[in-house]
Amino acid sequence: MEFSDAISELESGGAPLEAVERLLLANPQEEKELFSLADETRERHVGKSTCVHGVLEFSNFCKNSCLYCGIRKESPVKRYRMQPDEIVENVAWAAKELGYKMVVLQSGEDRHYTGETLCELAREIKKRCNIILFFSIGDRTQEEYASLKKAGADGVLYRFETSSSELFEKMRPGTSFGTRMAHLSFFHELKYLVATGFIIGLPHQSSKQLAQDILSLGKLKANMISIGPFLPSPLTPLASQKSPSLPLALRALAICRLLYKKVRMPVTTAFETLDPAGRQKAIFAGANSLMVNITPRKYSQCYSIYPNRFGEREEIEKLTREAIEFVQGIGRRVCRGYAKDLRPQFSAPACAE
Ligand code: 5AD
Repeated sequence: MEFSDAISELESGGAPLEAVERLLLANPQEEKELFSLADETRERHVGKSTCVHGVLEFSNFCKNSCLYCGIRKESPVKRYRMQPDEIVENVAWAAKELGYKMVVLQSGEDRHYTGETLCELAREIKKRCNIILFFSIGDRTQEEYASLKKAGADGVLYRFETSSSELFEKMRPGTSFGTRMAHLSFFHELKYLVATGFIIGLPHQSSKQLAQDILSLGKLKANMISIGPFLPSPLTPLASQKSPSLPLALRALAICRLLYKKVRMPVTTAFETLDPAGRQKAIFAGANSLMVNITPRKYSQCYSIYPNRFGEREEIEKLTREAIEFVQGIGRRVCRGYAKDLRPQFSAPACAE
């Protein structure tokens, strides 16, 4: 298939597997065109607004043994749990002092925090801060997620990791792909904003599977796309495996923008960790927000899902300032002024300024 035919197929609203696969294989010249088309699409459909989101990792305890993840239960990392008060204080500080409008509370799958504790956390944060609050806490019951929604949570970040059920269950022993998919559908029923995605270049992932991963985002009606390259962690059975190249990861991102024109798509930390130019390149290949790690520095180095995560040792204030300056420096606008009703702004063409 010709590159230009593959582009036309995507632009005409179709999403054939063959065209996505072809674009994933774009040569350096075609790739330039792909990135600039993605950037134009971003400009036309979501404009210059670029949000800087915060992620606070409140516990690295995990009951799972995902082959790719450095905080899997067998990993010898130093474990920590933040107290609810400490979590609230840190989010409130990020919102009030640093201007964060959207924060993701993330952890390993840690049952130490009961459903009720999480609800209290959500209530307290929403009482004190005018932010969009996401949870990224893995599998919980539908009842727990329903209560959390009632307590004020706005969204869930829950990646499907791979759209191949076989690869999923191989990479995540003891977990089920069916459960993953069921969660993603009940999140929508519960009216959560749904952020989902996959790992680009997971070992044993074929390019056809990667194309299927990209197309799954549409079927799952993602409000936000969270994808990033695989980075081998020395603490895992996949230690000797390779990362994908930055260009392949960028091609996946750019294809997502061509397919899902209005979606929110952050540059995830894995892009920034894979290559120092990752942020710059991703933001010009279709991405329209940044994620800053706002975990207190005494903990962030223990949340080692992969090594040397971008920014894990730098001061949060400095990282935030740099992210804002970066956004302004490339002529985009940092999102400001979320008012009372945050939800429409989030899924609308661009967030309010
Ligand atoms: N490389 C890249 N991404 C990873 N994640 C976990 N381990 C790795 C790794 N080694 C991603 C998973 C998870 C998210 C929190 O981090 O997709 O959902």
